[in-house]
Amino acid sequence: MKMILGIGAGYVGGPTMAMIAKKCPEYKVVVVDINQDRIKAWQSENLPIYEPGLKELVQATLNRNLFFSTDIQENIAKADIIFVSVNTPTKTFGTGAGKAADLQYWEKTAREIVRFSSSDKIIVEKSTVPVRTASAMEHILNANDKGIVFDVLSNPEFLAEGTAIQDLEKPDRVLIGGQETERGKKAISSLVELYTHWVPKEKILTTNVWSSELSKLAANAFLAQRISSINSLTAFCELTGANVHEVSKAIGMDSRLGSRFLCPSVGFGGSCFKKDILNLVYLCQHYGLKEVAGYWEQVVLMNEYQRKRFVQKMLNAMFNTVASKKIAIFGFAFKANTGDTRESSAIYICRELTEEHARVVITDPKALENARIDLKDIEEKLLFEPDPYKAADGAHAIAILTEWDCYRSLDYKKIYQSMEKPAFIFDGRNILDHQELFEIGFNVYPLGKTSLIH
Ligand SMILES: NC(=O)c1ccc[n+]([C@@H]2O[C@H](COP(=O)([O-])OP(=O)(O)OC[C@H]3O[C@@H](n4cnc5c(N)ncnc54)[C@H](O)[C@@H]3O)[C@@H](O)[C@H]2O)c1
Repeated sequence: MKMILGIGAGYVGGPTMAMIAKKCPEYKVVVVDINQDRIKAWQSENLPIYEPGLKELVQATLNRNLFFSTDIQENIAKADIIFVSVNTPTKTFGTGAGKAADLQYWEKTAREIVRFSSSDKIIVEKSTVPVRTASAMEHILNANDKGIVFDVLSNPEFLAEGTAIQDLEKPDRVLIGGQETERGKKAISSLVELYTHWVPKEKILTTNVWSSELSKLAANAFLAQRISSINSLTAFCELTGANVHEVSKAIGMDSRLGSRFLCPSVGFGGSCFKKDILNLVYLCQHYGLKEVAGYWEQVVLMNEYQRKRFVQKMLNAMFNTVASKKIAIFGFAFKANTGDTRESSAIYICRELTEEHARVVITDPKALENARIDLKDIEEKLLFEPDPYKAADGAHAIAILTEWDCYRSLDYKKIYQSMEKPAFIFDGRNILDHQELFEIGFNVYPLGKTSLIH
């Protein structure tokens, strides 16, 4: 039985390898990680991450042809193909701090692969990395004196958290970048063959390595750019009486543009958008493309502006002070249907409100545990409450920060009755019926629409 190894059992590595195990039953798939607790959780009933459909997917193959392990050495030695999905966060030190990708985990993994291998292997770069990383890694890997040859392929992951299983099962495309040599082409064919187990051939795109690496950074930059673009218009709409939803619908019906990613919000979050754009900005600066770097950096700056603007709006509306006022935060995850809170706008907003001495109570159906970790340093100033009704009880204001479906169908009459008056609601995702809330008695502050104030 051929063996596929996944290194890194996180949001990408876990679901991706589980999908490969399901679709390719003739392979043994092993996922390793240095984090023992994570590996234990993957083997248990309580998976380390929440993702709709993930539990069923893992259960279908666990201990049949899908295995989780901390034995990196033995599994590297046995593997035929290795997918690397380790984290590549923004560098916090030295050259490029705050922008460049920190490749230490990637490089450490490459060195372990060399150390423990005794046969040729295909190495698949799943992590998002700067352009030219595959080639650098190929140098490290092939500078071995064992006579082993490694072929490095770039195969960026495009899944979105919250719909990861769907995205993995029916991807818009699978991108595989490889060297344009005979060996490179052979390696590409092996990976194409693996994906054709479930992905139609016309959706598998093969390119050179650098195009593939750049496409991932560019795709995230374009997606984030749409969010920042529509968010920039929310400020404009609020001042002029235009309605951002009408504008977004009108823009989105243009078939050249399409309707997705035009939802106003309190700012994008997630572990990837900001990191990948800053990585792109850094690369542009490195190559002397000052104007190009400035252009993309603006997408991140607009996101920060949107977060600040939201807090400022809360302050202005609540008579310029939130000190001692209880504020219920509905939703802490960076988006609905995930427990992931990395780079969530909620982190920033809760910190700002606490700075203003508000009594912040956070509720979220899946992300409270991560929220506690993110705000550990100010934990004593916060409350974490799984029940949204209790979170809102006695509050002066509610801020909707994640578009969880469960917040659409709450009994807002009951909530209004339990709150201090005047009761404020700031809808940072525009998911509620604003007119209805206004009629209940709330002062309603949507994004990109006129506020409804009594
Ligand atoms: N999260 C997403 O939605 C998403 C989507 C597409 C691409 N990506 C990219 O995929 C990569 C992984 O992202 P993630 O969200 O899964 O990160 P993550 O932090 O959830 O998982 C990475 C895992 O790698 C492990 N690891 C680090 N060094 C290791 C080593 N030497 N040996 C074994 N394991 C090691 C860590 O312990 C961690 O569990 C990143 O480059 C990210 O940009 C993420």
